[in-house]
Amino acid sequence: DWTMSGFIDKEIERIREICGPTGRVIGAVSGGVDSTVAAKLMHTAIGDRFHAIMVDNGVLRLNEATKVNTMLNKDLGVNLTVVDASSLFLSRLEGVEDPEQKRKIIGNTFINIFEEEAAKIEAMAEEEEEEGGTQEGKEKKGKVEWLLQGTLYPDVIESISFKGPSATIKTHHNVGGLLKDMKLKLIEPLRELFKDEVRSLGRLLGIPAPLVNRHPFPGPGLAIRILGPVTREQVKILQLADEIYIEEIRRAGLYDEISQAFAVLLPVKAVGVMGDARTYEQVIALRAVQSEDFMTADWYVFPADVLRRISSRITNEVKGINRVTYDISSKPPATVEWL
Ligand code: XMP
Repeated sequence: DWTMSGFIDKEIERIREICGPTGRVIGAVSGGVDSTVAAKLMHTAIGDRFHAIMVDNGVLRLNEATKVNTMLNKDLGVNLTVVDASSLFLSRLEGVEDPEQKRKIIGNTFINIFEEEAAKIEAMAEEEEEEGGTQEGKEKKGKVEWLLQGTLYPDVIESISFKGPSATIKTHHNVGGLLKDMKLKLIEPLRELFKDEVRSLGRLLGIPAPLVNRHPFPGPGLAIRILGPVTREQVKILQLADEIYIEEIRRAGLYDEISQAFAVLLPVKAVGVMGDARTYEQVIALRAVQSEDFMTADWYVFPADVLRRISSRITNEVKGINRVTYDISSKPPATVEWL
Protein backbone atom coordinates (compact mmCIF):
# COMPACT_ATOMS: atom_id res chain seq x y z
CA ASP A 1 0.00 0.00 0.00
CA TRP A 2 1.21 3.47 -0.90
CA THR A 3 1.40 5.86 2.03
CA MET A 4 2.93 9.30 2.27
CA SER A 5 5.21 8.34 5.15
CA GLY A 6 6.31 5.30 3.16
CA PHE A 7 7.02 7.63 0.24
CA ILE A 8 9.14 9.88 2.46
CA ASP A 9 11.26 6.99 3.75
CA LYS A 10 11.77 5.58 0.28
CA GLU A 11 12.57 8.96 -1.24
CA ILE A 12 15.05 9.89 1.50
CA GLU A 13 16.80 6.58 0.96
CA ARG A 14 16.85 7.13 -2.80
CA ILE A 15 18.28 10.65 -2.40
CA ARG A 16 21.02 9.37 -0.07
CA GLU A 17 21.88 6.64 -2.53
CA ILE A 18 22.02 9.02 -5.48
CA CYS A 19 24.19 11.56 -3.64
CA GLY A 20 26.46 9.04 -2.00
CA PRO A 21 28.15 9.84 1.30
CA THR A 22 29.66 13.14 0.13
CA GLY A 23 27.85 14.56 -2.90
CA ARG A 24 26.26 17.99 -2.74
CA VAL A 25 23.07 19.39 -4.18
CA ILE A 26 22.03 22.95 -4.92
CA GLY A 27 18.52 24.20 -5.49
CA ALA A 28 16.65 27.42 -6.04
CA VAL A 29 13.95 28.27 -3.54
CA SER A 30 11.22 30.85 -4.03
CA GLY A 31 9.18 30.70 -0.85
CA GLY A 32 6.57 28.73 -2.75
CA VAL A 33 5.16 25.40 -1.62
CA ASP A 34 6.98 23.13 -4.09
CA SER A 35 10.50 24.48 -3.67
CA THR A 36 10.07 24.66 0.11
CA VAL A 37 8.86 21.09 0.43
CA ALA A 38 11.59 19.84 -1.94
CA ALA A 39 14.22 21.76 0.06
CA LYS A 40 12.99 20.41 3.39
CA LEU A 41 13.03 16.88 2.01
CA MET A 42 16.62 17.32 0.76
CA HIS A 43 17.70 18.74 4.09
CA THR A 44 16.12 15.82 5.89
CA ALA A 45 18.01 13.43 3.60
CA ILE A 46 21.49 14.98 3.39
CA GLY A 47 21.54 17.91 5.82
CA ASP A 48 23.90 20.77 4.98
CA ARG A 49 25.16 19.07 1.83
CA PHE A 50 22.05 20.59 0.35
CA HIS A 51 22.48 24.30 -0.44
CA ALA A 52 19.38 26.38 -1.12
CA ILE A 53 19.68 29.65 -3.00
CA MET A 54 17.07 32.37 -3.03
CA VAL A 55 17.47 35.18 -5.53
CA ASP A 56 15.86 38.50 -4.64
CA ASN A 57 14.90 39.77 -8.09
CA GLY A 58 13.48 43.10 -6.88
CA VAL A 59 9.93 42.09 -7.86
CA LEU A 60 9.07 39.90 -4.89
CA ARG A 61 6.25 40.55 -2.45
CA LEU A 62 6.82 42.85 0.55
CA ASN A 63 9.73 41.64 2.75
CA GLU A 64 9.58 38.27 1.01
CA ALA A 65 13.33 37.56 1.03
CA THR A 66 13.47 38.17 4.78
CA LYS A 67 10.38 36.04 5.37
CA VAL A 68 11.77 33.15 3.34
CA ASN A 69 15.10 33.40 5.13
CA THR A 70 13.40 33.18 8.52
CA MET A 71 11.14 30.37 7.42
CA LEU A 72 13.66 28.16 5.65
CA ASN A 73 16.82 28.87 7.54
CA LYS A 74 15.73 29.66 11.07
CA ASP A 75 12.53 27.59 11.30
CA LEU A 76 13.26 24.64 9.01
CA GLY A 77 17.06 24.55 9.40
CA VAL A 78 17.75 24.55 5.65
CA ASN A 79 21.18 25.81 4.56
CA LEU A 80 20.14 28.94 2.63
CA THR A 81 21.91 31.78 0.83
CA VAL A 82 19.82 34.84 -0.04
CA VAL A 83 21.26 36.86 -2.91
CA ASP A 84 20.07 40.42 -3.31
CA ALA A 85 20.21 40.97 -7.06
CA SER A 86 17.34 43.45 -7.14
CA SER A 87 19.39 46.30 -8.63
CA LEU A 88 20.57 44.19 -11.54
CA PHE A 89 17.07 42.89 -12.29
CA LEU A 90 15.45 46.32 -12.02
CA SER A 91 18.07 47.94 -14.22
CA ARG A 92 17.59 45.28 -16.91
CA LEU A 93 13.79 45.73 -16.67
CA GLU A 94 14.01 49.51 -17.06
CA GLY A 95 11.65 50.80 -19.73
CA VAL A 96 10.38 47.31 -20.64
CA GLU A 97 6.60 46.97 -21.00
CA ASP A 98 6.17 43.85 -23.11
CA PRO A 99 5.19 40.92 -20.84
CA GLU A 100 7.14 38.22 -22.69
CA GLN A 101 10.18 40.49 -22.71
CA LYS A 102 9.82 40.93 -18.95
CA ARG A 103 9.65 37.14 -18.51
CA LYS A 104 12.70 36.61 -20.69
CA ILE A 105 14.79 39.20 -18.87
CA ILE A 106 13.86 37.83 -15.47
CA GLY A 107 14.43 34.22 -16.52
CA ASN A 108 17.84 34.93 -18.05
CA THR A 109 19.03 37.16 -15.23
CA PHE A 110 17.93 34.52 -12.77
CA ILE A 111 20.11 31.98 -14.55
CA ASN A 112 23.12 34.34 -14.53
CA ILE A 113 22.82 34.95 -10.79
CA PHE A 114 22.07 31.35 -9.95
CA GLU A 115 25.09 30.10 -11.90
CA GLU A 116 27.34 32.62 -10.15
CA GLU A 117 26.12 31.52 -6.74
CA ALA A 118 26.34 27.85 -7.62
CA ALA A 119 29.97 28.37 -8.70
CA LYS A 120 30.71 30.12 -5.39
CA ILE A 121 29.20 27.26 -3.42
CA GLU A 122 31.14 24.74 -5.46
CA ALA A 123 34.42 26.62 -4.88
CA MET A 124 33.66 26.85 -1.17
CA ALA A 125 32.84 23.17 -0.98
CA GLU A 126 36.10 22.23 -2.70
CA GLU A 127 38.07 24.41 -0.33
CA GLU A 128 36.47 22.77 2.69
CA GLU A 129 37.36 19.42 1.25
CA GLU A 130 41.04 20.33 0.64
CA GLU A 131 41.42 21.21 4.29
CA GLY A 132 40.56 17.83 5.69
CA GLY A 133 39.98 15.23 3.05
CA THR A 134 41.83 12.08 2.12
CA GLN A 135 43.11 11.74 -1.44
CA GLU A 136 40.29 9.41 -2.28
CA GLY A 137 37.74 11.78 -0.79
CA LYS A 138 39.07 14.74 -2.75
CA GLU A 139 37.96 13.31 -6.03
CA LYS A 140 34.33 13.08 -5.10
CA LYS A 141 33.69 15.00 -1.93
CA GLY A 142 32.74 18.62 -2.12
CA LYS A 143 31.53 18.35 -5.68
CA VAL A 144 28.19 19.92 -6.48
CA GLU A 145 26.80 17.45 -8.96
CA TRP A 146 23.07 17.75 -8.54
CA LEU A 147 20.44 20.37 -9.07
CA LEU A 148 17.23 20.05 -7.08
CA GLN A 149 14.10 20.74 -9.05
CA GLY A 150 10.62 20.93 -7.50
CA THR A 151 8.91 19.51 -10.62
CA LEU A 152 5.47 18.00 -9.98
CA TYR A 153 3.70 15.29 -11.92
CA PRO A 154 1.48 17.72 -13.89
CA ASP A 155 4.64 19.59 -15.02
CA VAL A 156 6.13 16.30 -16.20
CA ILE A 157 2.99 15.52 -18.18
CA GLU A 158 2.75 19.03 -19.59
CA SER A 159 6.33 19.05 -20.80
CA ILE A 160 5.94 15.60 -22.38
CA SER A 161 2.70 16.33 -24.22
CA PHE A 162 3.04 20.11 -24.73
CA LYS A 163 -0.71 20.16 -24.30
CA GLY A 164 -0.92 22.72 -21.53
CA PRO A 165 -2.58 25.76 -23.08
CA SER A 166 -0.83 28.10 -20.65
CA ALA A 167 2.55 26.93 -21.88
CA THR A 168 1.80 28.16 -25.36
CA ILE A 169 0.08 31.38 -24.35
CA LYS A 170 2.71 32.48 -21.85
CA THR A 171 6.21 31.17 -21.30
CA HIS A 172 6.12 29.79 -17.77
CA HIS A 173 9.78 29.49 -17.00
CA ASN A 174 11.01 26.62 -15.02
CA VAL A 175 14.54 26.56 -13.83
CA GLY A 176 15.49 23.09 -15.04
CA GLY A 177 14.83 23.82 -18.68
CA LEU A 178 16.98 26.91 -18.49
CA LEU A 179 19.88 25.38 -16.60
CA LYS A 180 20.71 22.68 -19.12
CA ASP A 181 24.11 24.23 -19.79
CA MET A 182 25.21 23.86 -16.20
CA LYS A 183 26.10 20.19 -16.51
CA LEU A 184 24.35 19.45 -13.27
CA LYS A 185 22.19 16.39 -13.06
CA LEU A 186 18.58 16.96 -12.09
CA ILE A 187 17.14 15.51 -8.93
CA GLU A 188 13.34 15.73 -8.83
CA PRO A 189 11.89 14.17 -5.68
CA LEU A 190 8.35 15.49 -6.28
CA ARG A 191 7.97 14.31 -9.86
CA GLU A 192 5.38 11.67 -9.01
CA LEU A 193 3.20 13.92 -6.89
CA PHE A 194 0.20 16.16 -7.43
CA LYS A 195 -0.10 19.51 -5.68
CA ASP A 196 -2.35 18.27 -2.87
CA GLU A 197 0.12 15.43 -2.24
CA VAL A 198 3.01 17.90 -2.04
CA ARG A 199 1.01 19.78 0.57
CA SER A 200 0.45 16.68 2.72
CA LEU A 201 4.10 15.73 2.27
CA GLY A 202 5.00 19.22 3.51
CA ARG A 203 2.78 18.84 6.56
CA LEU A 204 4.36 15.46 7.38
CA LEU A 205 7.81 17.07 7.13
CA GLY A 206 6.74 19.63 9.74
CA ILE A 207 6.28 22.64 7.49
CA PRO A 208 3.72 25.00 9.06
CA ALA A 209 0.22 25.06 7.52
CA PRO A 210 0.20 28.74 6.42
CA LEU A 211 3.25 27.97 4.32
CA VAL A 212 2.01 24.69 2.93
CA ASN A 213 -1.28 26.32 1.88
CA ARG A 214 0.30 29.34 0.23
CA HIS A 215 -1.16 30.55 -3.06
CA PRO A 216 1.08 30.14 -6.12
CA PHE A 217 3.25 33.09 -7.11
CA PRO A 218 4.70 33.48 -10.61
CA GLY A 219 8.45 33.39 -11.21
CA PRO A 220 8.47 36.82 -12.92
CA GLY A 221 6.75 38.14 -9.80
CA LEU A 222 5.35 41.64 -9.59
CA ALA A 223 6.90 42.50 -12.96
CA ILE A 224 3.91 40.88 -14.68
CA ARG A 225 1.49 42.60 -12.28
CA ILE A 226 2.80 46.08 -13.03
CA LEU A 227 1.22 46.69 -16.40
CA GLY A 228 3.43 49.62 -17.36
CA PRO A 229 7.20 50.03 -16.92
CA VAL A 230 8.68 48.44 -13.80
CA THR A 231 10.38 50.89 -11.43
CA ARG A 232 11.30 50.74 -7.73
CA GLU A 233 8.48 53.20 -6.99
CA GLN A 234 5.87 51.13 -8.86
CA VAL A 235 7.09 47.95 -7.13
CA LYS A 236 6.73 49.63 -3.73
CA ILE A 237 3.16 50.78 -4.44
CA LEU A 238 2.12 47.31 -5.60
CA GLN A 239 3.86 45.56 -2.68
CA LEU A 240 1.98 47.70 -0.17
CA ALA A 241 -1.41 47.24 -1.85
CA ASP A 242 -0.87 43.50 -2.22
CA GLU A 243 0.19 43.13 1.42
CA ILE A 244 -3.00 44.86 2.63
CA TYR A 245 -5.14 42.75 0.30
CA ILE A 246 -3.70 39.41 1.46
CA GLU A 247 -3.70 40.49 5.11
CA GLU A 248 -7.42 41.32 4.96
CA ILE A 249 -8.21 38.08 3.13
CA ARG A 250 -6.44 36.14 5.90
CA ARG A 251 -8.13 38.20 8.60
CA ALA A 252 -11.54 37.39 7.07
CA GLY A 253 -10.63 33.69 7.11
CA LEU A 254 -11.00 33.39 3.34
CA TYR A 255 -7.41 32.64 2.28
CA ASP A 256 -7.78 28.87 2.04
CA GLU A 257 -10.98 28.92 -0.01
CA ILE A 258 -9.38 31.20 -2.62
CA SER A 259 -6.92 29.54 -5.02
CA GLN A 260 -4.97 32.68 -5.82
CA ALA A 261 -5.35 36.36 -4.95
CA PHE A 262 -3.19 39.35 -5.84
CA ALA A 263 -3.21 43.02 -6.70
CA VAL A 264 -2.36 44.48 -10.11
CA LEU A 265 -1.06 48.01 -10.73
CA LEU A 266 -2.73 49.59 -13.75
CA PRO A 267 -0.86 52.05 -15.97
CA VAL A 268 -3.64 54.61 -15.95
CA LYS A 269 -4.45 57.60 -13.78
CA ALA A 270 -7.89 58.51 -12.54
CA VAL A 271 -9.37 61.55 -10.88
CA GLY A 272 -10.21 61.53 -7.19
CA VAL A 273 -10.80 63.93 -4.33
CA MET A 274 -9.02 64.35 -1.00
CA GLY A 275 -10.17 67.11 1.38
CA ASP A 276 -11.04 69.92 -1.05
CA ALA A 277 -8.34 68.96 -3.50
CA ARG A 278 -8.56 67.05 -6.73
CA THR A 279 -6.17 64.11 -7.03
CA TYR A 280 -4.94 62.39 -10.16
CA GLU A 281 -3.46 59.02 -9.27
CA GLN A 282 -3.07 55.38 -10.23
CA VAL A 283 -5.55 52.51 -10.00
CA ILE A 284 -5.21 49.11 -8.33
CA ALA A 285 -7.12 46.11 -9.67
CA LEU A 286 -7.78 43.21 -7.28
CA ARG A 287 -7.92 39.64 -8.57
CA ALA A 288 -9.09 36.51 -6.73
CA VAL A 289 -9.92 33.18 -8.35
CA GLN A 290 -11.00 29.69 -7.49
CA SER A 291 -9.50 26.97 -9.64
CA GLU A 292 -8.67 23.28 -9.67
CA ASP A 293 -5.67 23.39 -11.98
CA PHE A 294 -5.46 27.00 -13.23
CA MET A 295 -6.36 25.92 -16.77
CA THR A 296 -9.76 27.38 -16.04
CA ALA A 297 -10.71 29.64 -13.15
CA ASP A 298 -13.75 31.41 -11.73
CA TRP A 299 -13.59 34.85 -10.23
CA TYR A 300 -14.23 34.74 -6.50
CA VAL A 301 -17.36 36.26 -4.94
CA PHE A 302 -16.22 38.24 -1.88
CA PRO A 303 -18.53 39.35 0.90
CA ALA A 304 -19.08 43.08 0.23
CA ASP A 305 -17.79 44.20 3.61
CA VAL A 306 -14.41 42.53 3.00
CA LEU A 307 -14.00 44.32 -0.34
CA ARG A 308 -15.06 47.58 1.27
CA ARG A 309 -12.43 47.25 4.01
CA ILE A 310 -9.70 46.32 1.53
CA SER A 311 -10.54 49.21 -0.78
CA SER A 312 -10.66 51.74 2.02
CA ARG A 313 -7.36 50.57 3.49
CA ILE A 314 -5.56 50.63 0.13
CA THR A 315 -6.75 54.11 -0.82
CA ASN A 316 -5.98 55.43 2.68
CA GLU A 317 -2.64 53.74 3.25
CA VAL A 318 -1.00 53.48 -0.16
CA LYS A 319 0.29 56.78 -1.47
CA GLY A 320 -0.27 57.12 -5.20
CA ILE A 321 -3.51 55.12 -5.34
CA ASN A 322 -6.96 56.76 -5.29
CA ARG A 323 -9.10 54.04 -6.83
CA VAL A 324 -9.55 50.26 -6.45
CA THR A 325 -11.40 47.98 -8.86
CA TYR A 326 -12.30 44.29 -8.62
CA ASP A 327 -11.70 41.97 -11.57
CA ILE A 328 -14.83 39.92 -12.42
CA SER A 329 -13.37 37.98 -15.36
CA SER A 330 -13.11 34.22 -15.46
CA LYS A 331 -10.56 32.11 -17.34
CA PRO A 332 -11.24 31.73 -20.21
CA PRO A 333 -11.46 34.19 -21.83
CA ALA A 334 -9.25 36.12 -19.39
CA THR A 335 -6.11 34.54 -17.92
CA VAL A 336 -5.42 34.55 -14.20
CA GLU A 337 -2.58 37.06 -14.50
CA TRP A 338 -3.15 40.27 -16.44
CA LEU A 339 0.06 39.79 -18.43
P1 XMP B 1 -2.43 32.34 -16.36
O1 XMP B 1 -2.19 33.82 -16.26
O2 XMP B 1 -1.63 31.69 -17.46
O3 XMP B 1 -1.88 31.74 -15.00
O4 XMP B 1 -3.89 31.99 -16.42
C1 XMP B 1 -2.06 30.42 -14.59
C2 XMP B 1 -1.16 30.20 -13.38
O5 XMP B 1 0.21 30.31 -13.78
C3 XMP B 1 0.86 31.36 -13.08
N1 XMP B 1 1.75 32.05 -14.01
C4 XMP B 1 3.09 31.93 -14.01
N2 XMP B 1 3.90 31.22 -13.22
N3 XMP B 1 5.77 32.03 -14.44
C5 XMP B 1 5.26 31.28 -13.42
O6 XMP B 1 6.03 30.65 -12.70
C6 XMP B 1 5.01 32.77 -15.29
O7 XMP B 1 5.51 33.42 -16.18
C7 XMP B 1 3.60 32.70 -15.06
N4 XMP B 1 2.53 33.28 -15.69
C8 XMP B 1 1.42 32.87 -15.03
C9 XMP B 1 -0.25 32.25 -12.56
O8 XMP B 1 0.17 32.99 -11.40
C10 XMP B 1 -1.35 31.25 -12.28
O9 XMP B 1 -1.15 30.61 -11.02
